[in-house]
Formats: sequence, C-alpha cells, structure tokens
Amino acid sequence: MQEKMKKVGIMGGTFDPIHISHLILGETAYEQFSLDKVLFLPAGNPPHKRNRKGGASDLERVEMVRRAIAGNSHFQLCLDEMDASDYSYTYRTLERMKAEHPDTEFYFIVGADSLFDFEKWKEPARICQAASILVAVRDHVDDERLSRKMKELEEKLGGHFYRLYSTNLDISSKMIRDWIRRKKTVRYYVPEPVLAYIADRHIYGMESTLEETEGQGKEKIRQMSGQYDLKKIEEKLEKHLDEDRMRHTRGVMYTAASLAMVYGCSLEKAQVAGLLHDCAKCIPNKKKLKMCLENQIPMTEYEEANPFILHAKLGAFLARQKYGVDDEQILDAITWHTTGKPDMSLLDKIIYLADYIEPGRDKASRLPYIRKLAFQDLDECMYQVLKDTLEYLSVGGSDGIDEMTEEAYGYYREIHEKRKG
Ligand SMILES: [Fe+2]
Ligand SMILES: [Fe+2]
Repeated sequence: MQEKMKKVGIMGGTFDPIHISHLILGETAYEQFSLDKVLFLPAGNPPHKRNRKGGASDLERVEMVRRAIAGNSHFQLCLDEMDASDYSYTYRTLERMKAEHPDTEFYFIVGADSLFDFEKWKEPARICQAASILVAVRDHVDDERLSRKMKELEEKLGGHFYRLYSTNLDISSKMIRDWIRRKKTVRYYVPEPVLAYIADRHIYGMESTLEETEGQGKEKIRQMSGQYDLKKIEEKLEKHLDEDRMRHTRGVMYTAASLAMVYGCSLEKAQVAGLLHDCAKCIPNKKKLKMCLENQIPMTEYEEANPFILHAKLGAFLARQKYGVDDEQILDAITWHTTGKPDMSLLDKIIYLADYIEPGRDKASRLPYIRKLAFQDLDECMYQVLKDTLEYLSVGGSDGIDEMTEEAYGYYREIHEKRKG
C-alpha cells in the first residue's frame, strides 16, 4: 500500500522582525490545509533585500523566529537559506527540499500582494513544480482580480494556487521597525519573548527595558539565552580557515572557556571570541591590506609593513559584519589578541593568553610554566608572555616590534614590579 504523503507548509520571509501576522498565517495554513507542520524559513540573503540597512543581523532574525515559534509543536525553524555565501532563491530551496523529501508535498505560503509580482521571481514555474502555492487573501486585494491572477498563473506556470483565508492584519515588519525607531509601542504586535530580545540587543535602535543598574542581571540573561549559535559560527569558519587554523581555533575556544570558568568571565563571550579571534587569518596579506583600506580600518606603519598582524583588526571587523557579533567586549578581545595593549579587560587577557597556551602550541619557551601561571595569575602571566614575546621578536630578526606590544609590556612590567615591592 502506498504511504500517505506528508504535507508541509513553508513560511518564507526576512522576518526582520517576525510578528503576529506571520504566526497567525502559519497557524491558519496548518489548520485549513491539514498540514503536518509549518516550516519557518528565514531568508539568508534575499536578492531583493541585499542591503537591509538598519535591520537585524542574520543571527538575530533567526533567534527572533526561534523565540516566536517556541511552544508551538507543529511550527519548526528551517535554516536552509541561512548560508550567507550565496544568495537565496526560493526555487532552489524548494527544489532541494523536494529532492530530499520525496514523500512530502510542500505548500509555499505567499501574501496576495506578492502574487502580482510572482512572475518577476526567479524561475516561477520551477517554484510551482516544487510546491503548491497558498495565497493569503487580503481585504484590500479585489477578489475577482485575485481569482483572475491565480487562474492566469496556473495556466502559464502549470502550478496549483489555493486561497488561504486568514484574518486581515495589516502589519508589516517595516511598520514594526519604523514604530520602534519612532519610540511607538509595538507591544502585542510582536510576541513578548521577541520583544524582550529586541530590547535587550537594542535592535532597530530600541532602548533596553532593563535598568542600567541591573547590568549584572542583564549579563546573566544574555548568558542564559545563549544568543550566539556556536555551531553555526564554527561551520561558517570552516569555509574560511584551513584545517590547522581550525584546530588551533578550537583549542583557543576551549582554553578561553576554561580560563573564563576560573576567573568568572562570561563563558559564551570567551567561546565566541576564541572561535573568531583568527577568522581573518587565512586571507592573503595583500587582500588584508586592501580590505582595511576599503573599509577605513586604520593601520599603523608597522601594520602596513607587516600585514599578517592585521588579521586581528580585520577579524574584529568581520566578526561584526559577517558573524553578527556586536558585543564590543568580544570585538575588543579579537582586536588586541595579537599585540596586547595596556590595561586589558578580563576577556582581552583570556583570549590573548588562550591563543598563546592552547594545547596545540609547542614552539614557545617555558610553556609548562606559562600554562600553569595563566590559571593562577593573569596579570603576571601577561607580563611573562609579553617579556618572552619581545625577546623572541628582537632575536628573531623580525621587522621591528609593534609599539602596542611594547606599551603593553611596560604596563604589565610595572604591575609585576610593584608587587615585588
Ligand atoms: Fe591570531
Ligand atoms: Fe590565534
């Protein structure tokens, strides 16, 4: 006997941000077409929205969807379009899904307004071959005109178009973003956990609902919510770093996490900074220089002469642009992981030292001593490592020494000497 085909709805969208109209539409489709589940598919890099200025990062949009659909067992997050290395096209995604799940009928949900643009989409006939189209009916779209359009498209593209009758809520993501910018309330338009996330991350310029004095509490919420998808970052990094660099990167991440445990630093920040500290390392030096120039990243003379060192500054830039990190502490730790600087933050020191002592390192002198010291006294360890580094650079015939490293050494030497009394 032939098995019954599964029926899966797909709600695609930028979800910048997701709002209740998306959720109601998904739920209505589930009920009206007796679907087994509805996939929420955030568009990774939609061709018609390539420059979403002032929008949320990819990671944030995904996290907002995750929070919005949590608690609905037939809603599911689908990350198939989140690979930012390519532009996402609906027909490609649907064809891939269809090939991977031959036992499933897909129902792609679109708004009535989109239907009138449907032929401008990339390969509309292929979309229709891969999925039936559910058209959400809107009050302001004339019914007869819609019927004509659906019939016309069915004949032209050979697909199936069905009406999806849903409550007409005239809400758009753009309206939500505008209202937030104008400090108008969007409460109840956006699910509460999403709204809390927008406020906490200051997305669309929203002010935090948490008091400044609650800094400690806020930090806790961020750690608990796990805002960074470490696995996703790691998968993306693998495309840009060679095998050895990945091995070193994982070593730094785990060592940084261990140090964070000892010194009471945010574990998540230590892991994210550890993962991303060398994200620009495998870019050829010429390209590093070019990227710094193009993106107005200031360079010292030493850096221009030794562009390999630029991977730190450029790494921080890419962490923000490509990996959605906007936490200044993490970005600073990446920026200073190569040279160090005076008066480094706890996270700066953890990343700098994790980079030096991770298990894969074997070149530096006195490693067993330095490794032990890192877990006992960060400032003393900074002093000892900077001392060894300067000695190594002066003997090793390098093209000079970065001034910042010398300044950092001076700073930590003073602490060392003061302590000695
Ligand atoms: Fe590095
Ligand atoms: Fe490194």
